Amino acid sequence: MVLSGYADPMTLFGVYFARAKEDVTHDPTAVALATATRAGFPSVRMVLLKAIDERGLVFFTNYDSRKGHELHQNPQAAMCFYWPRIEVQVRAEGAVEKLSAADSDAYFNSRERLSQIGAWASQQSAPLPTREVLLHRVAEMESRFDGQPIPRPPNWGGFLLVPQRMEFWQGNPGRLHDRLVYEQTDGAWQTSRLFP
Ligand SMILES: Cc1cc2nc3c(=O)[nH]c(=O)nc-3n(C[C@H](O)[C@H](O)[C@H](O)COP(=O)(O)O)c2cc1C
Repeated sequence: MVLSGYADPMTLFGVYFARAKEDVTHDPTAVALATATRAGFPSVRMVLLKAIDERGLVFFTNYDSRKGHELHQNPQAAMCFYWPRIEVQVRAEGAVEKLSAADSDAYFNSRERLSQIGAWASQQSAPLPTREVLLHRVAEMESRFDGQPIPRPPNWGGFLLVPQRMEFWQGNPGRLHDRLVYEQTDGAWQTSRLFP
């Protein structure tokens, strides 16, 4: 199978994402997110893709986490999706910006209450002496917000990765895979193909 051409990569992403969602055995929103320090030391972890629009790809996290600090120092990131049932890998690289407070609020308000409590209780990526410390913080937050709506913690919210380059990899028999690259130059998308 050969990847069909679309003028912009987010449209093609939407087409493949819809196909990937048909596989109920795998969460297609799970994506590896790579960041790096100012000095260029890389780190990678999984996050969940929570929104897509024509500009890019949105995930949510704690702004004081390791990834949050790295993105503050060096606001560039890379993502890599793998959708095994349809044998597709999608890579995206580009600048990362914080979502607006209003957009982060809207998503936070849609989360279940325990996740909202967890966002307040977890000092993500900081050392945790014992699990009891976390459970104690959860209990504290439950009593602090008892009977009230829970506001978004100021250090928790979304990031938008605005791809400057995207690559779609379609697996094929005999390792004759198809690789379609989109690169943005002067505001326009150029496409090219790579040997597999
Ligand atoms: C499938 C999966 C999805 C995850 N989704 C998120 C997410 O959306 N946001 C998040 O902050 N952490 C998520 N995590 C946890 C991260 O992988 C990571 O442990 C955490 O964000 C701390 O990373 P850091 O110390 O590099 O900042 C997820 C983990 C897995 C395995």
